[in-house]
Amino acid sequence: MQNVKKWIAAMLALALTLALALSMTAFAAVDDTGYSDVDAGNPYAEAILYCREHELMEGVGGNRFDPDGPLTRAALATVLYRMEGEPAVTGTDAFTDTADGQWYSGAVLWASQRKLMEGYGGGVFGIDDPVTRQDMATTLWRYADSPEAENAIRYEDESAIAGYAAAAVNWASANGVAAPVSGSRFAPRENASRAQIAAALMNFSRNVQPKPGDGQKVLVAYFSGTGTTRGVAQNIVTALGTDTATLHEITAAQPYTAADLDYTNSNCRSVTEQRDPSARPAISNSVSDMEQYDVVFLGYPIWNNDAPRIICTFLESENLSGKTIVPFCTSGGSGIANSVSNIRGLAGGAVWMDGRRFSGGTSRDTIIEWVNGLNLGIRAN
Ligand SMILES: Cc1cc2nc3c(=O)[nH]c(=O)nc-3n(C[C@H](O)[C@H](O)[C@H](O)COP(=O)(O)O)c2cc1C
Repeated sequence: MQNVKKWIAAMLALALTLALALSMTAFAAVDDTGYSDVDAGNPYAEAILYCREHELMEGVGGNRFDPDGPLTRAALATVLYRMEGEPAVTGTDAFTDTADGQWYSGAVLWASQRKLMEGYGGGVFGIDDPVTRQDMATTLWRYADSPEAENAIRYEDESAIAGYAAAAVNWASANGVAAPVSGSRFAPRENASRAQIAAALMNFSRNVQPKPGDGQKVLVAYFSGTGTTRGVAQNIVTALGTDTATLHEITAAQPYTAADLDYTNSNCRSVTEQRDPSARPAISNSVSDMEQYDVVFLGYPIWNNDAPRIICTFLESENLSGKTIVPFCTSGGSGIANSVSNIRGLAGGAVWMDGRRFSGGTSRDTIIEWVNGLNLGIRAN
């Protein structure tokens, strides 16, 4: 009887896993965008989907994205705050038109402290004002640390660009972040549409966000209950070479036994931890000299469609600010997306790249192809 119960529980778990895997496959295969007002042929469709997948911009409700509508300044602060991984903020902003405890409060405080959006002067942030195209460029330019653009582009409406935005508009154009609205017209004072902002965010992520080059150091940190994730992590290090990459196993202070990992028992340790979002199993080791690493591959098995809680302990105990994090996982079928959206906020100041799920026994060639496709500027072979 006991065995029958175990078998039924295992079958139920398998069915859940398959359902999850199928729903993800179905999403990847559909050719409509899921928004009633954005058809697949819309030139902004890719950017709008990119922003949804990366949880930067969602629809406006009622299955609509409102691609031509404006985005408020509070919403732009929120989008960038999400891009940054929503780091903790302290203090209060100096604006007279903002309030504490609102959906935008942390984002506006962060954006003003980072000097990305400083308001209009006179204590006014302009919470509900639409973002103009020159302010879209300026905010992203500041987020990129105000670089100089090498190729200044002359627009026919150049004279309409505000002084504070001139360098930003040049930069946004030279780096393919923002395109002119038509011909050589930038329309700096027009409202940026939600679709244009989605495109700017996607272009920014692809063209501008810092990508480490040769000579950069990589840490491959992983947690593994039964060795599957360890195999993938070892393959990444081998492919990158030990001059570039260092393997680091995240080990639990209290090691997980086979009984702890028996997820057919809903009271086993691992499932109990997964039920509690605040569980933080202790780690017995830390990374020596985290400072030296630019990129951190972070691997884990999927537990109950999430990252094991020990990964939260890791992210909260190591200083990952300024690092590029590349998450990867192994699983019986569940994808990585849900786990990444749950943990990405725990590493303040890190840049997260797209994650990837592997099944046990993934070939080294597949791993090499994936690592090289990340365009980190370091070759795996
Ligand atoms: C507690 C627990 C929960 C699990 N939950 C899931 C799940 O939700 N979806 C899934 O596809 N696999 C799930 N699995 C299977 C593991 O993700 C999979 O076997 C993984 O490759 C194990 O990696 P490891 O050997 O590195 O620990 C679970 C395994 C355990 C131990």
